[in-house]
Amino acid sequence: MNFDGNRVCELLGIRYPIIQAGMVWVSGAKLAAASAEAGILGVVGAGSMKPDLLAQHLQKAKTLTSKQVAVNIPLFYKDASQQIEVALRHGIRIFITSAGNPNTFTSFLKSKGCTVLHVVSNPKFALKAEEAGVDMVIAEGFEAGGHNGVDELTSFCLIPEVKQAIKIPVIAAGGVARGSQIAAAFCLGASGVQIGTRFVATVESSAHENFKQAILESSYNSTELCLKKLTPVRLLKNKFYERVVSLEKEGGTAEELKALLGKGRAKLGMLEGDLEEGELEIGQACSLIRNIPTVSDCIKELLEDYKQCLEALRN
Ligand SMILES: Cc1cc2nc3c(=O)[nH]c(=O)nc-3n(C[C@H](O)[C@H](O)[C@H](O)COP(=O)(O)O)c2cc1C
Repeated sequence: MNFDGNRVCELLGIRYPIIQAGMVWVSGAKLAAASAEAGILGVVGAGSMKPDLLAQHLQKAKTLTSKQVAVNIPLFYKDASQQIEVALRHGIRIFITSAGNPNTFTSFLKSKGCTVLHVVSNPKFALKAEEAGVDMVIAEGFEAGGHNGVDELTSFCLIPEVKQAIKIPVIAAGGVARGSQIAAAFCLGASGVQIGTRFVATVESSAHENFKQAILESSYNSTELCLKKLTPVRLLKNKFYERVVSLEKEGGTAEELKALLGKGRAKLGMLEGDLEEGELEIGQACSLIRNIPTVSDCIKELLEDYKQCLEALRN
């Protein structure tokens, strides 16, 4: 598959215009390195890592691949600044920032010669990111796994809106688990895609086997966007989700929801595999996933489906 001239490939130095999303408890050195080796952008998700653990993952990634990997920094975490320092010290030159103000670190990162991508959920934030000087915007729709914007814009509407609001390249995120959806993202104006949910169920992801199996068994109505009074997050339905929903129905306050969430829920669910009490972040596309391939095979499948989709369009 040839993506010669694609702006995302050129700017990120990759073969295919696909970003393996940064994901708490899922995207460590193994997943990022396997992604880089397979020709896409591999990303270490710093969100669940203290700076010293991030350093370990970045060192390990270097032993697994000679290709560059990127780091995802959710800006609402208090360690963001230290994580950036650690990543710079380890030679990282591609940063994906999310969940915060793009003005906070973009100029600094640009002054260090870095490429900066910022995740947005509406066209207003996309414009703000462009004005802050980022190189590309990742527009993440309502379907996506993990934390989500409050506007609930689906990728189908969000991508064209963002595309017409800014001049820099747009990368589509949210709901992409098949090659046909990559083709659709291009039709909507994206120059590349960021994929999370599909990569959770791969061999190299550090998600617990129970979580991966739960994805294989999921259905079209297995996820819901919850905790809107705190930070909206799309969850796989389980016992913990039911408790969140009933507290929300009773009119629970943000403080009460925070207390219910407590500490360590996401780790408990996604890394330790507690399918009842853990928080399981996943996107709507989970029900399209029916195997747990290696990253390399996963990308082959995506590209084959993309190719077939383009051929079908020609006929
Ligand atoms: C398990 C999980 C954890 C995530 N953690 C993060 C994170 O730490 N930082 C971030 O910017 N986005 C995070 N996301 C969102 C992804 O980076 C990506 O934008 C999203 O998964 C794309 O949509 P998709 O899940 O439909 O592919 C997470 C998504 C999932 C599924």
